[in-house]
Amino acid sequence: MVLKLTKNKIIFTVLIIIAIIFDGWLIYILYHSLTYPDKYWDWDNIQTNNDTYFPKNFMWGTATAAHQVEGNNQNNNWYEWENLHKKDNISRIHNNDKSGRASNHWELYKQDIELMKDLGVGYYRFSVEWSKIEPKKGIINYEALEHYKKLCNKLIDSGLTPVITLHHFTHPIWFEKLGAFEKEENINHFIKFSETVFNYLAELVPIWCTINEPAVFVSQGYFNGVFPPGKKDPLLAGHVMKNLLNAHVKVYHHLKSLPRGKDKQIGLVKNITQFDPLRRWHVLDWYFSKKLNDVFTNSAITFLSEGIFRFYLPGMANINFVNKNAIKALDFIGLNYYSRMHTKGHFNSSLPFTFELRKDKDIQTDMPYAIYPEGFYRAIKSISQINAPIIITENGIADEDDSHRDLFINRYLYALSKSINDGYDVRGYFYWTLMDNFEWAEGYKMKFGLYEVDFNNQKRTLREGSKSLIDLINKPSFDKRGYIVSIGDEAPDLELDYIDGRRVKLSDLRGQVVVLQFTASWCSVCIQEMPHLEKEVWQRYKDKGLTLIGIDRDEPIDVVRDFQKKVGTTYPLALDLGAKHFSKFAHKNAGVTRNIVIDRNGKIVFLTRLFDKNEFQEMINKIESLIQDS
Ligand code: BGC
Repeated sequence: MVLKLTKNKIIFTVLIIIAIIFDGWLIYILYHSLTYPDKYWDWDNIQTNNDTYFPKNFMWGTATAAHQVEGNNQNNNWYEWENLHKKDNISRIHNNDKSGRASNHWELYKQDIELMKDLGVGYYRFSVEWSKIEPKKGIINYEALEHYKKLCNKLIDSGLTPVITLHHFTHPIWFEKLGAFEKEENINHFIKFSETVFNYLAELVPIWCTINEPAVFVSQGYFNGVFPPGKKDPLLAGHVMKNLLNAHVKVYHHLKSLPRGKDKQIGLVKNITQFDPLRRWHVLDWYFSKKLNDVFTNSAITFLSEGIFRFYLPGMANINFVNKNAIKALDFIGLNYYSRMHTKGHFNSSLPFTFELRKDKDIQTDMPYAIYPEGFYRAIKSISQINAPIIITENGIADEDDSHRDLFINRYLYALSKSINDGYDVRGYFYWTLMDNFEWAEGYKMKFGLYEVDFNNQKRTLREGSKSLIDLINKPSFDKRGYIVSIGDEAPDLELDYIDGRRVKLSDLRGQVVVLQFTASWCSVCIQEMPHLEKEVWQRYKDKGLTLIGIDRDEPIDVVRDFQKKVGTTYPLALDLGAKHFSKFAHKNAGVTRNIVIDRNGKIVFLTRLFDKNEFQEMINKIESLIQDS
């Protein structure tokens, strides 16, 4: 009996423990699944072409990095890595590639600028090669600086704006030998170098990126060991991350304090790769995903927004640090986004997690990750926590056979456009990259270029898939009020179906002053404005050479008829199913009411938005002067 009770007790206790553990796990998984739902959009029903628009003044650019394109870099950490560091006598770079002449951009930059012009971009982000500028500690090579000055001048003469990155993965061998960013005291060398470049080039360069992707530099160089210095040391990784972020903060404040600093935009370039659980039901997958997101993304976001740095990997690293100077130490945040990783957790302390592709589910790129535009939107949302204007400083696809580049561009830019529509403050987009280049540990295998490069003769050829980017860059953009058109433009032609059955072509109304009012029955501001349009425009000028047409946004004829009765206006109303007419004048998702005044020659001369009494009066004055002019 006693024995039985004890046995039952044991079973009961074990069951309770299991229940607690599993309940806890269940709650953990449920909580995370609800907080981070796996986002997928219904691409079959998204027309990326129709729904992708960008604001006027949006910065379009392409990006490169010195070591990947210039050629002849023989004095930096990567040169050593490519040439000396072998594992079992095998090179650390795919195919034993060496950067060598790369895309010879050092010599061919003028021709490359022509390629940029052909794309229609207005900005070029490139990095300066520290090892060329300061080949020996404290010794500046002014010829190298002069080269970059020429590059900037050529860009400006060609109508492009230069954007400089001060550190893009490479630095001189002497700096590497000193311990690079492993040692806090070395930050001073980077500050001095940054100051030298800034003093030399700031008059030509309005936008500066301090450091490119601290998290990639750290994860590849100190975690996976596939970038120099090839270490696998999580604790050291944490310290390097801390030093890189602090280096950014110091360089930011220092450059800002220089005479030309105030009016320059200075920011950090942060990559985001989301770590998502491979199995959404598995607690370990969630656990490691969360840890990796915290360490590689959230640590930097919290540092730049609250001044608190935490790098915690259980049993491996636990670094806590506060630097209040970091709060808002940027004028913009650069975001590099490519894709996400799927984490698989293991009950194995020597290999706690791995990453796996879901080849059956996702469209793969040539890099070990899939096309995931939804993640681009998520990344923009995450980085917006820093509360600084966002510039997409890199985004692109490695796609040697060019079979997905077009889809990639259309979907990622749809995601970007959606984020802007939803209110995220994204100011620009730099495509990675202009032309094929040396893709670090992947050597020349990865083809990220909008232009294909034949490395035998350095010939550049535009890839078919890149054309969709050109189309998007050159597509009409919209202003703050949502207008695609501007004053001075010729009004797009419309064939309007009036609700009384008449059909009128806008171009047939040449010789008259035309006012188009975009309206809708559900729009209270429209209802407020319409009696004024009736009285102060229609009744006053209808017999003096003016046509006023209300164009109702996407409602059926019965609704529009009732609407007209309800507001009591008599000027003609026309239908606009699918907002087709509307979207020739304004961004499809922008609102009504708005008036477009067109002169007798078909030119747009005045645009209003909402019902603002002063603006409305100015419009009447304009109409009056047009009528008088006849
Ligand atoms: C880097 C680039 C690299 C690109 C594509 C980014 O992490 O900044 O230098 O070529 O990704 O892998």
